[in-house]
Amino acid sequence: MAVKAVIMAAGQGTRMKSDLPKVLHQVAGRSMVRWVVEAARSVGADQIMVVVGHGADLVVEDLPDDVQTCLQAEQLGTGHAVQIAVAALGDVADDTVLVLSGDTPLLKGESLIPLVEAFEEEQLAAALVSAVMDDPTGYGRVLRNEAGELVGIVEHKDATDSQLTVNEINAGIYAFKGGHLVDALNNLTNDNAQGEYYLTDVIESFARQGLAMAGIEADLDQIAGVNSQTHLADANEVMRRRIAVGWMESGVWIQDPAQVFISAEAVIEPGARIFAGVHLVGSCVVGSEAQIGPDVFADNSRFGSRSAVSYSVVRDSVVGEAVMVGPYASLRSGVVLESGSKAGTFVEMKNTTLGAGSTVAHLSYMGDASIGPDSNVGAGAITCNYDGVDKHRTEIGARVLIGSDTMLVAPITIGDDAMTGAGSTISRNVPPGALGVERSAQREIPGYADRVGKRRREKEDR
Ligand code: UD1
Ligand code: CA
Repeated sequence: MAVKAVIMAAGQGTRMKSDLPKVLHQVAGRSMVRWVVEAARSVGADQIMVVVGHGADLVVEDLPDDVQTCLQAEQLGTGHAVQIAVAALGDVADDTVLVLSGDTPLLKGESLIPLVEAFEEEQLAAALVSAVMDDPTGYGRVLRNEAGELVGIVEHKDATDSQLTVNEINAGIYAFKGGHLVDALNNLTNDNAQGEYYLTDVIESFARQGLAMAGIEADLDQIAGVNSQTHLADANEVMRRRIAVGWMESGVWIQDPAQVFISAEAVIEPGARIFAGVHLVGSCVVGSEAQIGPDVFADNSRFGSRSAVSYSVVRDSVVGEAVMVGPYASLRSGVVLESGSKAGTFVEMKNTTLGAGSTVAHLSYMGDASIGPDSNVGAGAITCNYDGVDKHRTEIGARVLIGSDTMLVAPITIGDDAMTGAGSTISRNVPPGALGVERSAQREIPGYADRVGKRRREKEDR
């Protein structure tokens, strides 16, 4: 008996008030629907069928390749969505059909295991996940008879006053026996407050047929459906905490889990230290004993062990072992800082490799450059990489000393062991071992400062 998962993800999500299809809104850097796909995968679903509709192309693009999709062109309700999905799956008569919603990103795969186990062991026709909520507003209510058996689900908008007092809610997570499900779906009507074909009506139909069912209670923090921007922020908060706790349990030190934003795709080695105000967006990797933060925004970047980065922005870059970045550095993209190097205060880099042990310590812009090992770029030195039309490269060799405030007019090459004089605008290559200097001779005008001082004092006396 195979487990086949259906994920409903066709709705527009009107209450989000956003052009983005609801299920593509992100929780900890991953779309909601992909969280649900991962949950289905981890419970061992043999096939995963996602029902797409609103923004179908965008949703399909976001999904992993091994996930199948089917189109619900008009969103006529959750029952209609599942009908289309089971038709696309083929013959499911003897299968367990797991039905999930694309808008419940907090659901953990491990929590689906008791559902599937109870369903299979007790040979049920349906099992659903429910939860008891202090404020069940908006959710479908689970209806039971005096013996406690499931008799149906009533949507909030269709519920009577007494049904509204029920605080056991339907989480929208179900396992069905395929054959019974298909029969019941074929007999749904849309005679209700929303004029939709409700999947939830299948439960009442099963109850009338006397089929065995069970409701399995789950933790509240897993089943919350996201229907608004506020819900989305709440879900992110839960996920942020969950991800931080996961890393702390593996030996990562986190100063304050409420003040770090770690994407689901990040990898952090034990012994790393994460200070407050750190955002690890996309696929970041942080090595052991690295110290990230306070206040670092890192996107899709790697940090070697023992590196230290503070008050900085790092995108699509590689920070090597024992490298120092910041405070207040901006590594825009394509930056590689080799081991033991440093990009210091108010340093901006783009498309640049900084060799092992080299330093760019203060107030510099290095763009489209390659700097060899053990070189030192003085304060205020910059690459003039753009001539107004094209970008050009700057090549700096090993053991070079670039004087403070040097303008390196690219394309330009500074040979190994060379130097440039402070304040020079260097527009010709400097051979290895040479000093390149370009500046006018200094002159001194004797007594000039004294004369100015005298004029100032005379003005003050007037
Ligand atoms: C649904 C349940 C409700 C439950 C709640 C849990 C129904 C009728 N109601 O209500 O009992 O308490 O979830 O969160 O099922 N979708 C489609 N096609 C459609 C309609 C919806 O794919 O035609 C998708 C949506 O994109 C969404 C999911 O199904 O991912 C749930 O739909 P939604 O409109 O959010 O249902 P709720 O009103 O929350
Ligand atoms: Ca919902």
